[in-house]
Amino acid sequence: MTARTHKGIVLAGGNGSRLWPLTLTVSKQLLPIFDKPMVFYPISVLMLAGIRDLMIISQSNNLPLYKALLGDGRDLGVHFSYAAQDEPRGLADAFLVARDFVGNDRVALMLGDNVLYGQGLTHLLADAACRSEGATIFAYRVPNPEQFGVIELDGCGRPLRIEEKPSEARSNLALIGLYFYDNKVLSLAASLKWSARAELEITDLNRIYMESGKLHVTLLGRGIAWLDTGTFGALLDASNYIATLERRQNLKVACLEEIAWRNDWIDDSQLEACARRWGNSEYARYLLRTRRLEPWD
Ligand code: DAU
Repeated sequence: MTARTHKGIVLAGGNGSRLWPLTLTVSKQLLPIFDKPMVFYPISVLMLAGIRDLMIISQSNNLPLYKALLGDGRDLGVHFSYAAQDEPRGLADAFLVARDFVGNDRVALMLGDNVLYGQGLTHLLADAACRSEGATIFAYRVPNPEQFGVIELDGCGRPLRIEEKPSEARSNLALIGLYFYDNKVLSLAASLKWSARAELEITDLNRIYMESGKLHVTLLGRGIAWLDTGTFGALLDASNYIATLERRQNLKVACLEEIAWRNDWIDDSQLEACARRWGNSEYARYLLRTRRLEPWD
């Protein structure tokens, strides 16, 4: 079997000030996206990539909330660890905070406020998780690239230039908040200089990989939804999108228990135990029904 990335980090810090007053007392990544907390969505993506050893990074005062929600992961056949980042020192700072957790492994990082869903995604994730060297990042066509990291590709799809929130974007390809790295990321992150906005920039890290010819860019096509949660409107749109899909298909998006069960990380009786934890909610009833779903559902 090909060795896979088996450490995953969900970065769920930041002060969420763009969503005040919503996020004054609640961690942004715990806000609901329709029927589940936002953080379930990035966790689901890492689990779909086959990653079972996960670290959640957030501010110290929020960590007890994440621990109460997710526990140690045993119920899901995974392991959750937790670490604090009390100041938003940048996305690449995650690799300094999680250095011991990553150890000698490869690692994937997903931002706690990114929602990613769509047909064929699991295969794309598996490809990234199986790539033993370099970095894999994902690009998505958007109408407003200036609000994101932007990548310019040559005619063969090779990366030419990466810029963080340029005033004039050279392409309409935004970089989404999901990154797969080899173990060199630990030393590269430690070598980064603070940017003008006093952060360790993920874009600087990706540029190092690009300049050494080790940056792989996967284009996400129109069958994949990458949703933003950065504004009140985007938050509502994301909830409406998930609600529409779930009601239409009678299947849930980012249901962690279902993914664990489909991955054979938990069996039917463990799935039932998970359902009991959620009482008489619609979510619990879905888990009980999951055991009767067909493999193609
Ligand atoms: O969402 C994709 C975009 O995410 C990428 O296109 C950009 O290249 C990348 O820089 C990032 O841009 P954002 O403007 O969304 O970054 P922001 O500073 O808002 O942080 C993203 C999330 O990560 C946010 O929920 C807060 C959290 N965060 C952020 C920083 C800087 C942390 O947990 N710790 C941090 O130090």
